[in-house]
Amino acid sequence: MIDLEVNGAAQRVDAEPDMPLLWVLRERLGLTGTKFGCGIAQCGACTVHLDGVAVRSCVTPIAAAAGRSVTTIEGLAEDAGRHPVQQAWIDCQVPQCGYCQSGQIMSAAALLASNAAPTDADIDAAMRGNICRCGAYSRIRRAIKQAGEARNNV
Ligand code: FES
Ligand code: FES
Repeated sequence: MIDLEVNGAAQRVDAEPDMPLLWVLRERLGLTGTKFGCGIAQCGACTVHLDGVAVRSCVTPIAAAAGRSVTTIEGLAEDAGRHPVQQAWIDCQVPQCGYCQSGQIMSAAALLASNAAPTDADIDAAMRGNICRCGAYSRIRRAIKQAGEARNNV
């Protein structure tokens, strides 16, 4: 049994220690907003926050999350409503097919938590590992900047 917190709620899962966190989220907890893309830490579709840091859940064993706090796309919204990144994503109409988008949003939110006014270079560095086959990169960059400005104006 492994205890962890997911989106603010305590969870106890019966899983082998090396089961990927992604599997636990999707198959055991029904949180299917986090996507499986490559399974080898190359695409970013499976990005979640572990104690506030963006990680690839496809290569994070559940044992590494024991006693820690996981946030998925389902838990990103804040008490006041949508997370600024979610609102900016809507305003900028970022998604095309959408498959990569929960991972993109989680990486963007982690970036803005540590740097609310990222430069293009900062965004490129932080988002480099999040692949979008639809090529929505320019809208992703615009939305991150808008979300940072919204954060700064609160
Ligand atoms: S599914 Fe995890 S990085 Fe691609
Ligand atoms: S929106 Fe289709 S892969 Fe990114």
